[in-house]
Amino acid sequence: MPRSHAEALVAAKSVFQSALLGWYRIHARQLPWREAPSLYKTVVSEFMLQQTQVKTVLPYFARWLDALPDFAALAAAPEARVLKLWEGLGYYSRARNLHRLAQALAARATPPRTPAEWQELPGVGPYTAAAITSISFDAQAACVDGNVVRILARLTADATEYRDSASASKVFAPLAQALLPPAAPGDHNQAMMELGATVCFRQKPLCLTCPVRKLCAGARQGEPESFPRLAPKQMEQRTVVRVWCERNGALLLHRAPPGAKRLANQHELPTAEHAGLTEAVAIQGELIARKKRGITRYQITECIHRAPPQVARAATRPDLVWVPLDQLDALTLSGPHRRWVAEILARRTP
Ligand code: ADE
Repeated sequence: MPRSHAEALVAAKSVFQSALLGWYRIHARQLPWREAPSLYKTVVSEFMLQQTQVKTVLPYFARWLDALPDFAALAAAPEARVLKLWEGLGYYSRARNLHRLAQALAARATPPRTPAEWQELPGVGPYTAAAITSISFDAQAACVDGNVVRILARLTADATEYRDSASASKVFAPLAQALLPPAAPGDHNQAMMELGATVCFRQKPLCLTCPVRKLCAGARQGEPESFPRLAPKQMEQRTVVRVWCERNGALLLHRAPPGAKRLANQHELPTAEHAGLTEAVAIQGELIARKKRGITRYQITECIHRAPPQVARAATRPDLVWVPLDQLDALTLSGPHRRWVAEILARRTP
């Protein structure tokens, strides 16, 4: 990063801080975790907001707080209930970690107050620890994620090419920390997030309304959207063959084992392999849906074929379950599978 731009920014940090905070106090979106904030609301919102946009989180957050209003209620809830409330948000290890975190807090007299202690808890990385402790305990910890990297790379017109957002975050962490004010660090962190989410867009940033435009070397040079420079993601193509198998008004689903890393206890349409078929055999069945989705660095094409009759007869593995169609709602399906199943069933009703 150009040292001179970074140094100039740090030298002007009190101007930066007050311009940013003044803007935030007027323009911050009213979000439910910002109204009458509590440690619980902050922790739940930060977990939900990992890798997920605010507008997606809002209905989940409201339902969650109604169902599980505090750490004690969450700690005491069965895991199936926790996962059901999370259904559709994705990255389900967050829900399990949040559950375990509530149980860890329930076993203590008081919650920890420092970022280092929070990072010992399940599912809490440096960003979440900084967000929770700065917002709830005024800890001097700057949040650095992709949004903050984008803002700082533009402010300093940093043309370095970074391998990915995580390695850029490491480089920008000291600058983010140097810009943090001693008073109200949580508001400063949230103001940075807000600027990234509502002004300093990845494409077409709204520089004319930006409160720190005068301090932005990227805007001065005329092409702020060219920063940060991140190496293009290497995406790998994959195809997954799945089967649609119905018998007597019930649908065959695969239930991931409790210890599974990504989808523990969740239901999905079975793959050819789950159904005891080779892919070559499974694709002989009628293709009833083809769906594309991205998961981390994989571009996945999912092909759902009607299963041949022998699948229904042979479906005896313990991880395969027959679910009556009118009971699908009560089950936890991963988000995309819930949509696909609903779509396929809806096609049949006149
Ligand atoms: N993203 C992560 N944490 C956030 C917060 N507290 N407010 C808005 N967006 C966020």
